[in-house]
Amino acid sequence: MARTTRTKRDFLRVTDLDRSELLELIERAAEWKLLGKGGPRPLERMTIGLVFEKASTRTRVSFEVAAYQLGGNAMLLSKADTQLGRGEPVPDTARVLARYLDALVIRTFEHEKLEEMARYADVPVVNALTDSSHPCQVLADLLTVTERFGADALSRGGLSVAWIGDGNNMANSWLEACALLGFDLRIACPEGYDPDPKLVARAGGRARVVRRPAEAAEGAHVVNTDVWASMGQEAEAEERRRKFAGFVVDEALMKRARPNAIALHCLPAHRGEEITDAVMEGPQSAVFDEAENRLHAQKALLELLLAGR
Ligand code: CP
Ligand code: NVA
Repeated sequence: MARTTRTKRDFLRVTDLDRSELLELIERAAEWKLLGKGGPRPLERMTIGLVFEKASTRTRVSFEVAAYQLGGNAMLLSKADTQLGRGEPVPDTARVLARYLDALVIRTFEHEKLEEMARYADVPVVNALTDSSHPCQVLADLLTVTERFGADALSRGGLSVAWIGDGNNMANSWLEACALLGFDLRIACPEGYDPDPKLVARAGGRARVVRRPAEAAEGAHVVNTDVWASMGQEAEAEERRRKFAGFVVDEALMKRARPNAIALHCLPAHRGEEITDAVMEGPQSAVFDEAENRLHAQKALLELLLAGR
């Protein structure tokens, strides 16, 4: 059985970086943002494969553009167009793709499938979202936080973050960031929709699960939310709408937070459900900067994984 022979680094979860690597990556992402389309081309002659088994607008486009701007190429490999969709085993697919490609960016359902890809592909594997995590989004979110609250916002202490709604893949990845960076994270979700308790425990007291959105938002710098029904949970949407009825990021909830607080949403949003139009379009909304920052954060990530910087 062929296994990894050369040294490679994956990014399957936020904690695949250590604290200083994460802080440096966010700093580097800010530099890439200033460079615009210019700057070095560390991916010259490299091709990254985007193995996507779920829909995507931001992640797919930002990775493609990031690869091109870094001097490389990107190739979309959707389930429908590859033999994966017809049942070719993951270990075979991973080993074959690694013979052509320099990195694999994977969006799938079970996290275990991503891990299996990473075990068998001897090129870096990046998590572009699974049912249990979405670390690339959190990189962009953290960059957005530093833009609004200062370059040292993540390292100086005192940052307070509220998560409102489902304890989903995004909440889990925020918990991992909390474990590394030590900010206060309050997650308000209805009973039965908590994030992964192991990740709450690993955050070591800096993260708390509460039941009232107002308690989470009180004095927060960042009020963050996401859809109530994630991809793959469409059949539960109606039930979730009932259960999450009080977990809306609206202007009243934003008033609980600091006057200069920002509202984040990884998008796509269901306006009028988890977030109101008024907040999305209001002065505290940072959601479109957040979306743009996917590109800059992923340029820093690809540079780190493929060029060692
Ligand atoms: N936020 C995010 O990952 O968006 P897409 O599903 O459009 O990639
Ligand atoms: N929690 C959402 C995030 C989409 C980017 C989902 O998994 O569908």
